[in-house]
Amino acid sequence: MTVTQSRTAEIRRLAAEDRDAAARALAELLRDLFGLEAERIEINRDRYSLNSLNGFFRTGDEAFFFKFHQEEGEEAMSGEYYRADILAKAGLPVDNPVHMSALPGEQILIYRRRTDPRFSDVLRRLDLAPDEAAEARALAAERKLNEALLEVCRKTLHPVDAAEVAAEPIHRLFYERLIDPKSGALPGGRFADFYVGRSFRFPGVELDWEAFSRAAVVINGVRYRRTIGELFAAAAERLRPDRLADAGGVTAHGDAHNANVWYVEGGGAPSLAFFDPAFAGSHVPTLLAEIKATFHNIFAHPLWLYDPAEAATRYRADATFADGVLDIVTDWQPSRIRLGLLEVKAGTFWRPLLATLSERGLLSPDWREVIRLALFLCPTLVMNLRAGASSHNPVSSLIAFSVAVMVGSEPVAGEDVVTRFLDMVDPERG
Ligand SMILES: Nc1ncnc2c1ncn2[C@@H]1O[C@H](COP(=O)(O)OP(=O)(O)O)[C@@H](O)[C@H]1O
Ligand SMILES: [Mg+2]
Repeated sequence: MTVTQSRTAEIRRLAAEDRDAAARALAELLRDLFGLEAERIEINRDRYSLNSLNGFFRTGDEAFFFKFHQEEGEEAMSGEYYRADILAKAGLPVDNPVHMSALPGEQILIYRRRTDPRFSDVLRRLDLAPDEAAEARALAAERKLNEALLEVCRKTLHPVDAAEVAAEPIHRLFYERLIDPKSGALPGGRFADFYVGRSFRFPGVELDWEAFSRAAVVINGVRYRRTIGELFAAAAERLRPDRLADAGGVTAHGDAHNANVWYVEGGGAPSLAFFDPAFAGSHVPTLLAEIKATFHNIFAHPLWLYDPAEAATRYRADATFADGVLDIVTDWQPSRIRLGLLEVKAGTFWRPLLATLSERGLLSPDWREVIRLALFLCPTLVMNLRAGASSHNPVSSLIAFSVAVMVGSEPVAGEDVVTRFLDMVDPERG
């Protein structure tokens, strides 16, 4: 039996050893697949560790971006192609591939090369160097995008059945990170790998999973109702794909964090455009559609999630543990631009969306719980938050888990930025 040689796998292998050979193999692939004469091929270095590969090339005076997906097979490339089209047809601004191959072993997507910054890069600069005029422009762009998102949600909102919702790829970002991908066993996947049975090192205290997952959490004097263990268990129950049909389905990107969004400074007001729509769909459970954007654009900043070393130099976080209570004190708080983004997201998107759901009889009574549990899984399962496991240190890890609990759980009493957000978007409140 002959095994088909994957040309993309071969290019990926070569890229780690012999860049010129990799570029030649890629040029040949592009010629065979699309009749393109690729010049000045650049393969991005920092991506090798992940299974994906991307980079740039030119043909004449046109510049392109190419991308091989992480996973071979499973129609990853044609999936992204088809999903970009779903968003474009709904009227959302999104990059469409100009070439695509879904041939086995030769899956590749080609986009026009952009020189715009990602919105995440623009906002990071504003975290570090606040600038009122630039912030106002960024917020105006965010408002315009959210008006478009709301319109698309309203236009596409429809009743869905459990099977339709369960078939959406967005669950790979939430529920499917809690379970074993093959057997479906819980705990499994990232949840089991990252946390279950592990130890947690914070400034002032080290806890094993048993103690950590069962600890009552107090953050800056506010006590939270649920433990970390209870939050994972509740998420595994309530975010099961077949339970998410109750709020209807919409057309959405689903993974529209700002590192998948371009900031386009034209002549006039800047605007935003999506790319990387691998998890988009047309039956996305409504309450999940903008969760990734809400968490990763707002609560993940400044610095603690993506720049843990930097966060440790700027923020303090300390913990004590006694009688089953993990008491955390930290001076971390969202920056002005993030609070501005929160206000826009709440007022322009969430509040009117929830009002629409309510009018159409699709607002489940536990909508706060669904939003909270989905927000909770964003930081905890996007990367390993334990100090020493990946990029995190004891300070960033403690801030990370405190933000995760704050978004995930109601406080026993008192308020925080998340209770204020949920009150702001509650359609039953004046
Ligand atoms: N059309 C493009 N032009 C230039 N750079 C791009 C383009 N599309 C993506 N990139 C860059 O490549 C990175 C990874 O691309 P993305 O499509 O988000 O893939 P992934 O699946 O790895 O997240 C982006 O964060 C961006 O910096
Ligand atoms: Mg991306």
